[in-house]
Amino acid sequence: MPLIDLRSDTVTRPTAAMREAMARAEVGDDVYGEDPSVRALEERVAELLGKERALFVPSGTMSNQLALLLHCERGDEVIVAPGTHCNVYEAGAGAAWAGVQFVVAGDEVAGLSVDHLDAALKPAQYYLPRSRLLVLENTHNRRGGAVTSVADSAQLALHARERGLRTHLDGARLWNAAVALGVSEAALAEPFHTVSVCFSKGLGAPVGSALVGAASDLERARRLRKMLGGGMRQAGVLAAAALHALDHHRQRLSEDHRAARAIGALLARAGHAPAPIHSNIVNLPLPPGHRAEVALAAARTAGVLVSAMDARTLRLVTHLDVSLAAAEEGAQRLVQALWAGAPS
Ligand SMILES: Cc1ncc(COP(=O)(O)O)c(C=O)c1O
Repeated sequence: MPLIDLRSDTVTRPTAAMREAMARAEVGDDVYGEDPSVRALEERVAELLGKERALFVPSGTMSNQLALLLHCERGDEVIVAPGTHCNVYEAGAGAAWAGVQFVVAGDEVAGLSVDHLDAALKPAQYYLPRSRLLVLENTHNRRGGAVTSVADSAQLALHARERGLRTHLDGARLWNAAVALGVSEAALAEPFHTVSVCFSKGLGAPVGSALVGAASDLERARRLRKMLGGGMRQAGVLAAAALHALDHHRQRLSEDHRAARAIGALLARAGHAPAPIHSNIVNLPLPPGHRAEVALAAARTAGVLVSAMDARTLRLVTHLDVSLAAAEEGAQRLVQALWAGAPS
């Protein structure tokens, strides 16, 4: 019985066609700016997001950290919604490298509104930290892949800009948001100074992200990337995988969203409805008396891998390497493992 891995959309392995594209890639030394495949990827991503320039980086974490370094000075404040990746999942890097502190504003479920943003802003006083940057995440990982519309993104980002803030969008799964909303990535990216996108999540590439924005910002980001050790040499083999993913795996993300909804429907039929499903992530609160770590172990024994959002919530993510049938089978196995024989 092969394991069904629903822990994350980062667990995918490159397809045969992607590996072929990687093997065929033309390469050069990208620290010299001489890798044609990296250049092609950066041009393609900048165009897709409607920005002047893109910079290929090893990870979404580095991309977000470059944005903090680019926009902030030490001691500045960064306003984020609860559970935002660059605050909770980047090992304290924002404090360690950029020297910023985070102000968490908004609601765990609904996210951040203009009112929350206003309440988080500090007046300009020499003895107060300076409110400097707004970071939004679309889709929002911890909020179950929640999608922010073009109108809401624009309202928040423009409100922040009018108050003198810089704005960064963590779009690790911007591709999912665009497909879920039926809009272009450029429309979602438009109001932000910088945007980070990942190729290694739903798109199924093995490595890589990009920071995108104005040419002047990206020139500085290139220097900062070098300072962080993110300058890569013949990175065209990786860029080729990302280009292949953009060409072949972007539109199919709707299949992952359909599979997530199928998981949700199956769990609901079994009497264990998950939180609302927006894209490819299913958050499943456990009933009283259940602990996530025990549930994970039982699920593994039943042949399905899931992850824990916290001590009482499981997380299931659909991706390129699970078909609709496998996703449903995974949900069945989970129900069997956790609730077979118990009244629901
Ligand atoms: C929303 C979000 N931003 C950033 C990252 C960081 O990406 P990486 O794992 O490539 O550093 C992730 C990773 O899952 C993520 O979900």
